[in-house]
This record gives sequence, C-alpha cells and structure tokens, in this order.
Amino acid sequence: MKKLLVTGASGFLGWHICQLANRNWEVYGTYFYHTLEISNVKMLKVDLVNFSELKQVFNEIKPEAVIHTAALSQPNYCQNNPQESYTINVNVPSNIAGLCADNLIPCVFTSTDLVFDGLNAPYKEIDPVCPINIYGEHKVMAEQKMLEEYPQTAVCRMPLMFGAATPTASSFIQPFIQTLQQGKELNLFVDEFRTPVSGTTAAKGLLLALEKVNGLIHLGGKERISRYEFGRLLIEVFQLPAAGLKACRQEDVKMAAPRPIDVSLDSSKAFALGYQPLPLREELEALVRQSSGG
Ligand SMILES: NC(=O)c1ccc[n+]([C@@H]2O[C@H](COP(=O)([O-])OP(=O)(O)OC[C@H]3O[C@@H](n4cnc5c(N)ncnc54)[C@H](OP(=O)(O)O)[C@@H]3O)[C@@H](O)[C@H]2O)c1
Repeated sequence: MKKLLVTGASGFLGWHICQLANRNWEVYGTYFYHTLEISNVKMLKVDLVNFSELKQVFNEIKPEAVIHTAALSQPNYCQNNPQESYTINVNVPSNIAGLCADNLIPCVFTSTDLVFDGLNAPYKEIDPVCPINIYGEHKVMAEQKMLEEYPQTAVCRMPLMFGAATPTASSFIQPFIQTLQQGKELNLFVDEFRTPVSGTTAAKGLLLALEKVNGLIHLGGKERISRYEFGRLLIEVFQLPAAGLKACRQEDVKMAAPRPIDVSLDSSKAFALGYQPLPLREELEALVRQSSGG
C-alpha cells in the first residue's frame, strides 16, 4: 500500500480521514498536543511549525501523498491571535506545498467557505474571494501561496462539518446536544446559512480530491440550511428536548470574528466528479445508529 501522511489526525476531520484512508493506504497521522492511537494508523508527534521537524517527517517516511488538515480552526481564536494564526494557517501549509512539490506527490489542503463574505451565495470556485475575518484572510493567503509553490495542490474549500466526537475532538453538534439535554437555552441563528456535511462525507471528498483534483474545489453539501433549522433537524432525529431551542439573529451575539451571513457553496464541480453528500437527515440518522452501536 502507498503511504499517506494526514496532518491533524488528532483533530475532528483528520481523525475521520484516517478511519477511511487506512483501508487503502498505509497511513501516518500527526498530532501535537492531543496524544492518541488510531487503529492501523502510525501516529507521529510533530510540531508542524518547526520546519526541520516537518522536513524530517518527509525524509524519513517518504509519503506518497499528503492531506493537510492541521490548523487553528477557530475563527474567534485566530482573530485574537493573528500572529499565531499566520504561522500555523499560512506558513505551515505553504511549507507543506513546497515539500510536496519537491517530492512531486499529491497534496490536498483543507481551506474553508469563510474565504467569502457571505453576500453572494452560492459560491463557485471561479467567484472572487473576499474574507471578512482573519481566519478567512489567512486561509486565502495559504491557498494562494500553496498554488504558487505547487499548482497541482488540491485546494478543497470545506463547509461547516458535523459528526461523532472522536477521542480527542468534537464538532459543533456535541455542545448543542448537551445544552438541550441539560434543559438549558440554545440560541441559534435564523439568518446564518451554510451547506454542511458530515466528517465522513468530507473525508470521502478529500480522498476523491486526492485522486482527481488539481486546483480549487468546493466540497459543500447539497442542502443550504440555517443554524436554527439545523438545530430543529437535530432535535427531531436525535429525539432531544426541544424546549431550549431559541431563534436569534447574528446581530444579537457579539463575537471576536465577524461572521458571514451565507457562505453556501456550489459544489457541482465535485458532484460531477463523484462526490455524493447524503441528505442531512440521512447523515444525522446514521450518527444516531452509530451512537447506539447499530
Ligand atoms: N470543522 C469545520 O467545520 C471546518 C470548516 C471549514 C474548514 N475547516 C478546516 O478543516 C481543517 C480541519 O478542521 P478540524 O475541525 O478537524 O480542526 P481541529 O479539530 O481544530 O484540529 C486541528 C488539528 O491541527 C493540529 N495542530 C494545530 N496546531 C498544530 C501544530 N503547531 N503542529 C501540529 N499540529 C497542529 C491539532 O493537533 P493537536 O490538537 O494534537 O495539537 C489538531 O489535530 C482545518 O484546516 C480547518 O480550518 C474546518
């Protein structure tokens, strides 16, 4: 089997990629703070910011493909820590693209729908970028630097993702479920729209991009949904107490990073290549079956 390096295997998406990729690849996964074991994956502790450490990984393992998911993924944190965000979200991906170029191996990068301002959705790959927060700005810089270093890079713009909690990471649905189960109030935006997918679907899309994509690709889901409507669907499928769910608007909540209203992605290019996100209800039903051991 060929060797695949997955950075950020201790993160939400990296873990989901490892679960699928280890069937067809010899997978090497990196972590930094969060130590973990994944079956059939060789785990490596790497500070990706340290270039000589990163280069050593390439020299020793000699990966035949790389999926780079490691990042500072919280927009509010990046807004308050721009230098750290620049180092991890711009310098590291640029270095990884350079190393992939040196070795002429496929390189997949996880960018974001937050490269757009949210005023002209749905967005296609040809639409101009216009980020409104530092996280989005840094992802745009990373995209540009990677494509300069190595035009064959598959730059995958990911939507909001949800799924089962992993041993060391979770998605936004876990705090939602906990809040409702505790009978507390859960305020969700009626005016913020996304095209979410599950971590498993996203992982399938990235493995497809690894085989078939050079340049930009959108890996959004097929349904545009508000945070509030997503919450309602979650309550229905997971049979959660509904009393706590309250509708609110973006302007009601002050956050460090400005949030675009609607960054729904038009992912028809990926659909034509065989990317097939399931309806959200089916994705959530699969999570219920999984959590009950079915
Ligand atoms: N989650 C979403 O809804 C979403 C949406 C759009 C795009 N994305 C993008 O998709 C990718 C994956 O997101 P995610 O939610 O899976 O992220 P996550 O759960 O926050 O995981 C981040 C990963 O990055 C690693 N990391 C951070 N700094 C590092 C460093 N200096 N050296 C080595 N590793 C480091 C972390 O390792 P340790 O924890 O072990 O330190 C962790 O494995 C990111 O590029 C993110 O920007 C995510």
